[in-house]
Amino acid sequence: MKKALHVVRPRFRLDLGHGIHGSRVFWHGRALARELDVDPRLLAWFAFLHDSQRHDDGIDHGHGGRAADFAVELRQRGVLTELDRRHFEQLCEAMRLHSDGHTENEPGIVACWDADRLDLGRVGITPAPHRLCTAPAREPQRIERAVAMSCAPARRRRR
Ligand SMILES: [Fe+2]
Repeated sequence: MKKALHVVRPRFRLDLGHGIHGSRVFWHGRALARELDVDPRLLAWFAFLHDSQRHDDGIDHGHGGRAADFAVELRQRGVLTELDRRHFEQLCEAMRLHSDGHTENEPGIVACWDADRLDLGRVGITPAPHRLCTAPAREPQRIERAVAMSCAPARRRRR
C-alpha cells in the first residue's frame, strides 16, 4: 500500500483529494478482500491508481483507461511487481471499466468497483445497494459507515 501511494502521488494530475479518496477505497477494499477471498494487493494498487490520471473531477471519460496504461508503464519499468499476471490483468480491467456502472465480473474486479463506490459519499451520493456488486458491500451498516467516513473532515497529517 505504501509503495502504491509513493509511486502514484507524484503522478496525480489534479490535487482533488484523490489520495484521501484512495486511502478510503483501500480501507474498504481491504475489508472486502478478506470477505471475498481476494488478494488485498490488487485492492491496494487499484485504490491508489484508478483515479490518478484524471484530468478533471467530472465524468472524465477515459481516466480509467489512462490509469490502466499507467499501470502497464509501471509494470514495464519493473515497479509494479507484486501482482502475478492474472491479478495484473484484473487490475487493468477493473480500472478501465470502473466508472461504467457494471456490476458483474470476477471477484477481484467487483471488489475493486465496490471499494470505490462505497466512497461515493464524497460527492454527495449514498451508494445504492443495487449499484454495488457484492453482498458484503451491500450491507446497510457498511454503507452507512462508508458515507460517514466519506463525509468526515480529513485529519491533518503530523509533521
Ligand atoms: Fe475512485
